[in-house]
Amino acid sequence: MERTLIRDIPTKEGEEIILKGWVDTRRDHGKLIFIDLRDRTGIAQVVLKDAVEHAGDIRNEDVIELRGSVKARPEGMVNEKLPNHLGHYEVQASAFSFLNRRAGEGLPVPLEGDGYDVNEEVRMQYRYVDLRRARLQKNLRNRSKATQFIRNFLAERDFTEVETPILTKSTPEGARDYLVPSRLYHGKFYALPQAPQQYKQLLMVAGLERYFQIARCFRDEDTRGDRQPEFTQLDLEMSFVAREDVMALNEELLIALVETLYPGKRIQEKPFPRLSYTDVVKKYGTDRPDLRADKNDPNLLAFAWIIDFPFFERVPPVRPERSRGMSPSTDSPQTSKEVWTFTHNPFSAPKPEFMADLLAGKNVGDILTSQYDVVLNGWEIGGGSIRNHESRALEAVFNILGFTAERIKANFGHMLEALSLGAPPHGGIAWGLDRVVMLLENEPNIREVIAFPKTGDGRDPMMDSPSEVEKEQLEELGLEIKKKKR
Ligand code: AMO
Repeated sequence: MERTLIRDIPTKEGEEIILKGWVDTRRDHGKLIFIDLRDRTGIAQVVLKDAVEHAGDIRNEDVIELRGSVKARPEGMVNEKLPNHLGHYEVQASAFSFLNRRAGEGLPVPLEGDGYDVNEEVRMQYRYVDLRRARLQKNLRNRSKATQFIRNFLAERDFTEVETPILTKSTPEGARDYLVPSRLYHGKFYALPQAPQQYKQLLMVAGLERYFQIARCFRDEDTRGDRQPEFTQLDLEMSFVAREDVMALNEELLIALVETLYPGKRIQEKPFPRLSYTDVVKKYGTDRPDLRADKNDPNLLAFAWIIDFPFFERVPPVRPERSRGMSPSTDSPQTSKEVWTFTHNPFSAPKPEFMADLLAGKNVGDILTSQYDVVLNGWEIGGGSIRNHESRALEAVFNILGFTAERIKANFGHMLEALSLGAPPHGGIAWGLDRVVMLLENEPNIREVIAFPKTGDGRDPMMDSPSEVEKEQLEELGLEIKKKKR
């Protein structure tokens, strides 16, 4: 006999079925044992006579298989709260067997309740148990639906999904890189991508015209509620477009996503308001304002576009870690003075009316970038821009940043060359997908929507990573570990 999924029980009244799953709870009533059995599709009430062999040994989170017949529950025993009418039925089991028995007295992570109060270390060490809780199951399944929706939406609009390398070279997205030592070239390193920025632009030069990727990004920065060392972007890029085209497409996608998958949510304002950086900072003191009219409403979504950011800002010359902007100064001749860095992305084009100033390196502080950020309820959920598709404009940016000709050539020669071999005008955006799902699921932290996140201090206690490696591995890589001075 084939396994029946729990959601299909209501179609099997009077029939003999086989169920497989986890024991969610067990209650004893005299000679009867009641089990809530859980599979990926729901929870079923199962009644077992304690005379059935080993029935008395069943514990919660055991994995079992059972055979039984589907009966309508007697009047008064119906549970209307369960989905799919499951509360109208029970399964009277005649036989069962253990597929896997849970060891230990209790579970390492309690599964009752929402789990927010459970110690983070323990939740992450036993994440595979933690993930069994209904809230996290829902988050992962809804995240998958959102990703699927995005894929279909973009595929219908002629976008091609392309995977770009994970072993790559340092990209200037503003954080510290994760480095991977090369075995074949001692002393050389790959960097994990902070974003697929350069590759997606190169795909435009390659003629793809419309690219997207559900892209894993890596940034070695301190973890926060909305930040993980590795996270996921919806990354996209389009050719022959202006700022408005990219914003319009993304707005349409965000609205369709919410209205299709989260019909209980209300979008406060459509089209999304567009606010200038200067105005929002003046009015709200931040460039990611929470614009909700009622902040107690968990179903209200206040999206907004923030535009017209300054392209450059003055910073002290050496800043080892900045949230945005690669260290701007190393080859600037006036090292003691403040130098220019970019506020978002060095590949961005200025707004068209500032192109002449950019090329001439004039009125640098007044140049506005084509950058657009999208914010939601006080969080930055995405950002992008129209790019400099002519090499002289990109070169002008690096000149303003004070880079020497050698450094420009060494770090960005490939980009400049590509931009002079038939580059279409292009622009794009990346969403922080974890943040979008976090907000749609009303979660306080992106960890709640990531299957296997890192702890607040950047570790994975389940896999015990980061961890030491064998001496032979280091030797093969030509590496030696410097002992920390105490
Ligand atoms: P940016 O650096 O703004 O742009 O990143 C885009 C979006 O990614 C999310 N994000 C993060 N989410 C979780 N953890 C992190 N550590 C983290 N860092 C960023 C944010 C952010 O808005 N290449 C450009 C995009 C472009 O111009 O097309 C980029 O990466 O929601």
